[in-house]
This record gives sequence, structure tokens and C-alpha cells, in this order.
Amino acid sequence: MRVLFVSSEVFPLIKTGGLADVSGALPAALKTSDVDVKCLIPGYTSVLEKVENKTHLGTLEVFNNISCELISATIPNTKVEVIIIKHAGLYERDGGPYTHPHGHDWSDNPMRFGVLSKVASLLSIYQSFWSWVPDIVHCNDWQTGLTPYYMRQQGITDAKTLLSIHNIAFQGNFEQHWIQSLGLSPIDFQIDGFEFYQQVSFLKAGIFYADQISTVSPTYALEIQTEAFGFGLEGLLQIRSKDITGILNGIDTDEWNPEADPYLPSTYSEKKLAGKSQVKTALQEALHLTADSKKPLLGIVSRLTHQKGLDILIESMPELIELGCQFAVLGGGEKSFEAQFLAYAEQYPNQVAVTIGYNEPLSHLIMAGADIFIMPSRFEPCGLNQLYGLRYGTPPVVSNTGGLADSICHTNDETIKNNTATGFVIENVNKMSLLVTIKQALSIWNDQKTWKKIQKNGMKKDVGWKHSANAYVELYKKLLN
Ligand code: ADP
Ligand code: GLC
Repeated sequence: MRVLFVSSEVFPLIKTGGLADVSGALPAALKTSDVDVKCLIPGYTSVLEKVENKTHLGTLEVFNNISCELISATIPNTKVEVIIIKHAGLYERDGGPYTHPHGHDWSDNPMRFGVLSKVASLLSIYQSFWSWVPDIVHCNDWQTGLTPYYMRQQGITDAKTLLSIHNIAFQGNFEQHWIQSLGLSPIDFQIDGFEFYQQVSFLKAGIFYADQISTVSPTYALEIQTEAFGFGLEGLLQIRSKDITGILNGIDTDEWNPEADPYLPSTYSEKKLAGKSQVKTALQEALHLTADSKKPLLGIVSRLTHQKGLDILIESMPELIELGCQFAVLGGGEKSFEAQFLAYAEQYPNQVAVTIGYNEPLSHLIMAGADIFIMPSRFEPCGLNQLYGLRYGTPPVVSNTGGLADSICHTNDETIKNNTATGFVIENVNKMSLLVTIKQALSIWNDQKTWKKIQKNGMKKDVGWKHSANAYVELYKKLLN
């Protein structure tokens, strides 16, 4: 089975969030399940720098006046083959994959990801330099949403399409004038097509034209079919309901392994937890927090956006600081959240440490050194940090939504007794609920014997990719039948 896995970010080549983690780890897991998988990604500068064994494949004319060189290479560590779309003008820039260094979106994003979508469709048919034609084109999020459309447009029926939705809040909706430069047919600018409230919608196109649709947790698969979570696409998703599957993400258990994590000053395991306290001390020292093992340390590693519910945490912090909690916050995003976290850090330097920006080593250190991980998301398609929390013996406090609801078992008398408790689930995303739940976690943390049980329950859980990769293989088989 040949699968072309198309994504706008792939760890460790380029990453802004969980999509990259999934796009790095899932193809590697598929490879071990005997799937012949290749990734397709834009040639951002960091991608060109980090891949190994680059070889020129050929040149494709994508749109009028836009030709791209295609390069084959391998991803370090996993050795998965990646096809890189090289176009200096579109992709080799400072800043992020979607944003200018000043933070605003690149104005030509429709073209940058229109090219990605179109190349995926062109690689689904024979080219003079390309005979590896996929059976399945696995698209991810809005950046690849036009691929199923372009494939229909070209009459490609041999290769089937799967669209995985990692976050329906990001839809890639752009002004109507893009129709022409993206080579779309004006006739399909309608409700039964890629039109969405008078805009060209990449994600809607994907949902409308893909053969199958998946999302990253079973609960989110149901949630997006409701008005509360569907961001306007719930109607179409209801129509496509029988073609939607929810598959919970796994994590890369080599990259995230407390027994062999190169970013940690000491390693530990479920059987030997002692090393975790040493990491906590090292984290407190590194962040200039009072180095005291008796102070509960709460960790946050996140995009700082409305989705993640961190405004609720910000409101709750004075009371938690009063209770003696420490905070290690790492993230970036909305300026007002950054400013509010930084203000606490300035006021309480021994209790609150805030690092703004993207920092891989610190994210591992916080995950391992914190006692409790906080994730009060308003919606969370899957969420990976709570899974890292399980693996690192850092029980998470999560909201009752999406993949959080599917992966964390709330602690109560019964779940303590039957060894299924792995974390703490907030009933509602509001200050009162969050405070009640964090206080419950703190009271159990004070009873270290029970706490260790919860840590161990989490650390024993199989959060790797094997199970989920098998579920994708089943879905691919269904598509081919
Ligand atoms: P999302 O993709 O919605 O941001 P996920 O929980 O699926 O949420 O994945 C987020 C990923 O990005 C995790 O691997 C997390 O550790 C990482 N991450 C988020 N913010 C930062 C940051 N500031 N520095 C380092 N890693 C981060
Ligand atoms: C998105 C979601 C997140 C999910 C990730 C990977 O970024 O917000 O919940 O874990 O994609 O699927």
C-alpha cells in the first residue's frame, strides 16, 4: 500500500504544534506496519537544512508561472522519505511556516498552500520523473484541503483521499479573487463545492471532496458535527457523518521518554521515580523559582490562545499563588495572554516563571519537572501534552473535551481503587471548576502514596503510535475497497 502523507509541518524539520508531531511520528509508525509511505512538505529553509540525502527528482509546472523543483530526501532518525517542494520565492523566508516574523499571516498563504495541495494531486499520477503513484493521498488540515478537489478536477480516481482534521478552527478561508490564480473552476464556487460564506475555503473543499475524513479523537469526531464545535462546518459534516472516523493520536515514545531524554539532568521510570524530583529541583533552579520540593509546581506548555483556555487559568492564578503553588509557563501567541503571564512573573518571581517563545529543551524539562500539567482547553481535537504528561508521571488537569476526554481518566475513590485514575477532569471551562479541580489535585498530591499510584497508572499506559497506526491502516484498506 502506497501512501503519500501531505502536511505543512513535520517534526523535526519544522513545527508550530501538534500537527508536526503527528506528521513526524505517524508515517514512521506506518512504515513499521509495512506501509510504503512518503511525506510531502513545502521546502521551508529549515526543512532544506535539516533533511539528509537530498536528490533532485524533477520539475513540475504547478500553475501558470509557477514551477517547482521536487527533491527527495530522508528525515533524520526515522529515515522516512520526504518529497520537498522547492520554490525559494514561496517558502524560503524568515519567520514561521504561516506567519511573517512580525506575527501576521503571509498574504500569499493561499498560493503557498495551493501549491502544496496541487503538487500532491500531480504526484498522484505518473510524471516523467515519477512512477511511485500512491494508492492513498493522506491530507492534513486546511493547508492540504484543495488536494481532493484538484484530484477530482484532473479526473484522478485510482488514488483515494483521506482528509485528517487536526483543528477545525483553522479553515483557510480566502477572498474570492484567488479562484483564478489557484486554477479553481468558478462553477464550483457554490455550496456544493469549495465556497463557504462567499470565500474560497480550503478546509471545506477537503471535507466536501475527500473520500474519507478522520479527526484526531473519537469525541472530537462527534463534537465537530455540532454547532458548538463545528465552526460553521457542522452541517456539511453531518451530511458526511458516515465517512468520519475518530482516531486518537499516539506520541513518539522515543522522543518523549523519561528513561532516556537527553534534555533532562536525570532520567527516571515508572519503577524508579526518584530522578523526577531531581528534575524538579533543576527546573526550579533554572527558572529562579524557590527550590523547594514541597511547593507544588504546575506546568504549562502551550500556544497561548483562546482555544487553550489559559485566560481561565490567568484568572485563577492569584488564588493558587496564595496557596503556595509555583508555575512554569512556556508558550507564545496572543499578546494579552503573554503580558498577563509576564505580569505575574514580575510580581512573584519566586513563584511564577514565564518563558515566551518556542523552546524544545525547556518543554521537556517542564513536562518532567512539573508535578501537575494544566490544560483547560475550550476545545482540544486531541492534545499531545496530556499524553506527554502521562508518560512523564506529571498527571494532567484537563477539560472534558475532545482527545482530553478520551485520554484522561478522572481521579475519584473508585478510579483510585481500580487503578485507572490518570489525571483530573474539569467539569466546565470556568474559574470555579478549574480551581475546584486543581485543589482536588493538590490535596491528593499532598498524599504522596496515592499520588504515586496515579503517576504510575499514567506511566504504564500505552500511548505509542502502534494502535492508532493500525487504525489508520484499517481506514486505508476501507478506502481501497
Ligand atoms: P496544538 O497542536 O493545538 O498546539 P498539541 O497539544 O497537539 O496542541 O501539541 C502541541 C505541541 O507543541 C506539543 O508537542 C507541545 O509540547 C509543543 N509546544 C507548544 N508550545 C510550545 C513551546 N512554546 N515550546 C516548545 N514546544 C511547544
Ligand atoms: C491540532 C490540535 C491538537 C492536536 C494536534 C495534532 O493542533 O489543536 O489538539 O493534538 O492538532 O493532531
